Amino acid sequence: MTETRKNFTSKLGVVLAAAGSAVGLGNVWRFPTEVGNNGGAAFILIYLICVLAVGVPVMMSEFLIGRHTHANTITAFSKLAPGKWWRIQGVSGVFVAFLILSYYTVISGWTLYYLVQSLKGGLLESQDYLAYFSSFVSDPYMPVIYAAVFMLMTHLVIARGVQSGIERFSKIMMPLLLLIICVLVVCSFGMPGAGTGLRFLLKPDFSKVTASVVLSAMGQAFFSLSLAMGCLCTYASYFTSDTKLVKTAFSVCSIDTFVAVLSGFIIFPAVFSVEGVNPDEGPGLVFVTLPYVFNMAFHQSVPLLGYLFSGLFYLLLLLAALTSAMSLHESVTAYVIESLRLPRKKASAWVSVCCMALGVLCSLSFGVLSDVTVCGLTIFDLFDFCASKIIMPAGGLIICLFTGWYLDRKLVYNELTNEGTVPFRLFRVYVFLIRYVVPVAIALIFINELLG
Ligand code: PFF
Repeated sequence: MTETRKNFTSKLGVVLAAAGSAVGLGNVWRFPTEVGNNGGAAFILIYLICVLAVGVPVMMSEFLIGRHTHANTITAFSKLAPGKWWRIQGVSGVFVAFLILSYYTVISGWTLYYLVQSLKGGLLESQDYLAYFSSFVSDPYMPVIYAAVFMLMTHLVIARGVQSGIERFSKIMMPLLLLIICVLVVCSFGMPGAGTGLRFLLKPDFSKVTASVVLSAMGQAFFSLSLAMGCLCTYASYFTSDTKLVKTAFSVCSIDTFVAVLSGFIIFPAVFSVEGVNPDEGPGLVFVTLPYVFNMAFHQSVPLLGYLFSGLFYLLLLLAALTSAMSLHESVTAYVIESLRLPRKKASAWVSVCCMALGVLCSLSFGVLSDVTVCGLTIFDLFDFCASKIIMPAGGLIICLFTGWYLDRKLVYNELTNEGTVPFRLFRVYVFLIRYVVPVAIALIFINELLG
C-alpha cells in the first residue's frame, strides 16, 4: 500500500527543510574556496547579485511548479504539460539528484571520518595532512564504510517520511547548525590572524574579476541553492496552500547566503592566523589546510581547544551535508513511491542501495579505480561534470523557459500570490527576469563550462 501524501505542518518546518537542502557542503566548503580563488569580497558581491537576480526567481519557479501539482518532479511536469516534451526536465531532475547523491555521499563520508578522527585525536596528531588525506581517500574500504554509514543516516530520516522524518530532523539539525556556526565565528574572530583574514574577506579585489569569475559565481549560486535538480520542487509539493512562496524563497536564499558568508568568517581568520598558509588552497582547503590550521592554532598550545574546534567544524559540515542529502534522496524516493507504487520504506531502501552502489564506484575512483577514465575524467569527476556542468544548467534553463514562456501567466501569478491573497508587487520584474535575464545568464554559464 502506498502512503497518502503528507504536507509539512508548519511555516518553520517549510523554511528549515528547504534551507536544509540549500545549506550544504557547497556553503561551508566550496564557497570559501571560490572566494579565496576569485578576489575575496569582489566575488561575494557578484555572488549576491547572482542570488538575487537568478537564484530567487528560479527558486520561486520551482516552488510554484511543486506546490501547484503536489507531485514528484516527473509527474509535476507531466501534469502541467500533458503529452509534451517538458517531462524530460522532470526526468533529468530526478536522474541528476540520484547522480549527485552518489558522490555527495562519498564526500560526506570523508566528513564523518574527519569528525570521528578529530574527536579521537588521530586527526590533529598527524604530521603530514596531505599524506593523511591521500592515504584515507585512496583506501578501498574505509571511505566506503563511512559513506555507507552516512547513507544509512540519510536513509533512516527519509524512511520516516515527510513529517516525522524530513520536517522533524530539519527542525533539530538546522538550529544546531546555525548555533555551531555562531560559536565557530566567535572562536575564529578571537584568533591572532583574524584581522588579516577579515580584511581579505571584506576588501574587494576587482582586478581578479573576469567573465569566468562571474560565471563561477552563478554556477556556485545554482549549486548552493539546490536549483534545477528537482529537490526544491519535490519539497514544495509538500507545501500547503497558505505557504507564501515568494517569502519562503527569499528566506531560504538569505539563510543560505548567510551561512556561506559566515563560513568564510570562520575559515579565513583561522587560515590567516597560521603563517605560510594561503587562502586559495583549492579543494584541499577543508581536508588538508584546515586540519593543519586547527593543529597549529589550537592543538599545539591547548589540545582540548583543538579537538573542540575541529570537532565542531566537522560536525557543522556533517549536519549541512546530511540535510542536503535528505533532499536529494527525497527527490528520487518521492518518484519511486508514486510511480512504482511502493511503500516509502521499500522505496527509500531501493534508492539508498542503488545510490550506494554508484557511490562505491565514486569512492574507488580515488584509489583502485583511478585509472578508469572517460574522456580523461575519473568516475567521480565524470559524475560531477555531467551533473553540475551539463544537466544542472540545462535544467535551470528549461525551468525558466517552462515558467516564463510555456505556463499560463495567470496560473503563475495565482500560485505565487496564493490566489491573489498575498501581494507580490515585483511580479513584472520576476517575469522579466525569468523570461529574458536568467535564460541568457544560464546559457552563458553553460557555454563557458563546456568550453572551459
Ligand atoms: N545545495 C547543496 C550544497 O550547497 O551543498 C548541494 C545540493 C543539494 C545540490 C541538493 C543540489 C541539490 F539538489
